[in-house]
Amino acid sequence: MPQWVTKLMAKLGDPAGAFDMPPMTFSINGPEKEQLERLQAQNPELARSFLKWLWHREGTIRRLEQDLKAEFHYWEMTRLYAAKSGFWYAILPIYTAPLMLRAQRLVEFGTAFTYYPDTYNNDRWGISTSDTDGMVSTRILLSACRILETMGINAKLTSVEVREQAIFEGVDITHNGDQLFTDLSLRQYWEPIFGMDSAKWLADQKRLIASGQEQTIDFALLDSNHTYDLTMAELVGLAAVTSPQAVIIIDNCYTLFYEPNAEWSLDETPDGIQHGGKYGAIVEFAATHDDWELEFFPYPLEIAYLKKGFKQGFKR
Ligand SMILES: C[S@@+](CC[C@H](N)C(=O)[O-])C[C@H]1O[C@@H](n2cnc3c(N)ncnc32)[C@H](O)[C@@H]1O
Repeated sequence: MPQWVTKLMAKLGDPAGAFDMPPMTFSINGPEKEQLERLQAQNPELARSFLKWLWHREGTIRRLEQDLKAEFHYWEMTRLYAAKSGFWYAILPIYTAPLMLRAQRLVEFGTAFTYYPDTYNNDRWGISTSDTDGMVSTRILLSACRILETMGINAKLTSVEVREQAIFEGVDITHNGDQLFTDLSLRQYWEPIFGMDSAKWLADQKRLIASGQEQTIDFALLDSNHTYDLTMAELVGLAAVTSPQAVIIIDNCYTLFYEPNAEWSLDETPDGIQHGGKYGAIVEFAATHDDWELEFFPYPLEIAYLKKGFKQGFKR
């Protein structure tokens, strides 16, 4: 085989050259089939070469199709969650804000847990049949990281969750998130930090960012405890560690008093009630931080959007 062909094959990702490719079944039709038959009768060596080229072309097309289909899944999963999940109202804002920002460092406070693969009907891209299944925001933000990577941006999501373990009906589901995100090819963008309070994590970040050991934060989702104290601590903590252009999305922003007496959530304090609960914390933060603009989405789209550094347009 001519050397230029071998070199071209190496460039096309087949270092062994055209005559040494793994087995693949495909059919040859039309004029190419006729040409192959003609060559097989007249010049078997040339026929072999022709066949290998057909083979190589098929492999290239299939590889591309696989790549495209894989990327397509992330958009399709997002569309499905925006249409049908309990968190439908926040899906597009949390997916698009990191893309718009070209965010490198994303964080979320509160990721919860997942029953995966149970309750998923053998479909890792689907929605759990359980209302209590979590890590919804997590999979959407990780999908955004993956899309950002295709734009040449090295993005990572840190999920800070105060729970250390999640045992339900005797089943330890602590590692199910690892499995889910491995199966979705998203695990490489994820830094889960369990057993950590968001306010404490932010205090550590302030020190690490000030000493140049960590990058500033471009995007944050607040979905942890829905009290005045914690919301205020998260917002003030974030204000000290965000990039010059940044977005904070806050879930359940209209909350004054969330799920009273729930085992998994702290009740609002009398002082927090006086300040208007989670809703009051958002309003008070915006009123005392001029560099942050506040937008509420109309109810029942229960999210607020805090953004900084947009007055002069986009950073890049
Ligand atoms: C509403 S769930 C999060 C749901 C998740 N974002 C999703 O999309 O499925 C709230 C989570 O916040 C966690 N949480 C509560 N207080 C926290 C804190 N101080 N720091 C970090 N996580 C906290 C709870 O343990 C709970 O798992």
